[in-house]
Amino acid sequence: MSVVHIDAGVGARRPDLAATAPFLRACRGERPATTPVWFMRQAGRVLPEYRSLRAGIPMLDSCRDPALITEITMQPVRRFRPDAAIFFSDIVVPLVALGLDIDIVAGVGPVVAEPIRDAAGVAALRELEPNDVPYIADGVRTLLRELGGTPLIGFAGAPFTLASYLVEGGPSRNHLRTKELMYREPKLWHDLLDRLAGITTAFLQVQVDAGVDAIQLFDSWAGALSEADYRRYVAPHSARVLGAFAGQVPRIHFGVNTGELLAVMGEVGADVVGVDWRVPLDVAARRVGPHRALQGNLDPAAVFAPHDVLDAKIRDVLARGTAAPGHVFNLGHGVLPETDPGVLAHIVDVVHAG
Ligand code: CP3
Repeated sequence: MSVVHIDAGVGARRPDLAATAPFLRACRGERPATTPVWFMRQAGRVLPEYRSLRAGIPMLDSCRDPALITEITMQPVRRFRPDAAIFFSDIVVPLVALGLDIDIVAGVGPVVAEPIRDAAGVAALRELEPNDVPYIADGVRTLLRELGGTPLIGFAGAPFTLASYLVEGGPSRNHLRTKELMYREPKLWHDLLDRLAGITTAFLQVQVDAGVDAIQLFDSWAGALSEADYRRYVAPHSARVLGAFAGQVPRIHFGVNTGELLAVMGEVGADVVGVDWRVPLDVAARRVGPHRALQGNLDPAAVFAPHDVLDAKIRDVLARGTAAPGHVFNLGHGVLPETDPGVLAHIVDVVHAG
């Protein structure tokens, strides 16, 4: 397999790590001796030590406390020794910092008190300043001291996924109001996404300036769109966000149900395309092309399979992942709450053993 060099940039603060950490090397399209692995949502709900730490503390409060952010981000690193840590936060944190009334309701997700559906609502969305989120830069800096040689991934929600929460007022199956706004008032739609792209870029810039080693843009619900609609209504805005970090840090771009969008999600400026569990990685590699690495894509439900079945699935993902220039092993979406943490530790061992 020829090595395709992906110009994903090096972390400004930790150039040594960029050259040696398997996760950062794989993001650049290299093949380290062991395949790097981390898990989306590794910090949080599956860990008993997380549940006891969080007892009595509302989710959004824990996202605004650098000491808690640091401890929660470190918990899975100590337990599983993954190849990367993901900053503990939520995609709605920058919106809450701007003063939007958003509550995180247990078992439901983010709920927006006053959904945005008209010009006045869009016009009220102001730009995010670094001073709005001091705890983010503080959290990143504290974490970098704790983490040693483990790279830290910063993240944000992509404009479309954020817009879906703001327009629907909460989680949605069909994103009907979102699509209605998009089709009925395209100018207003683009104004909304433009503002969200600015907010997302500013939120990621705070993390990059504080020293995160890579970023992941979560467009979790982009798979609700056809490729044509994605290109027309979403791609320019996600491209603006990702373009702002070209050459600075590796950029991972992920969504669920995005089999038909994998190529364009790469084209908008990703160094690594995250793949959900529905599309085998060799097929995804053909769709994405030779200049981008892949991340994924074990079915999160595979953790409930007997170990021989699970191990075969892990090895299948590893084998198919060799079709991509670089491969970061992950689940095809976040860790499910019912997951036994011991199984995650087992997956790390099997991936590292090759
Ligand atoms: O579940 C936990 O681990 C507890 C902490 C928590 C997070 N978000 C952390 C998070 C809680 C309670 C939330 C609320 C929330 N926000 C939900 C409901 C979650 C649930 O299962 O009850 C949802 C759906 C959101 C919105 C959201 N947050 C989305 C769509 C994403 C992108 C990832 C995805 O799942 O598609 C997030 C990111 C997120 N939330 C992260 C964390 C730690 C970062 C990503 C990561 O760790 O991989």
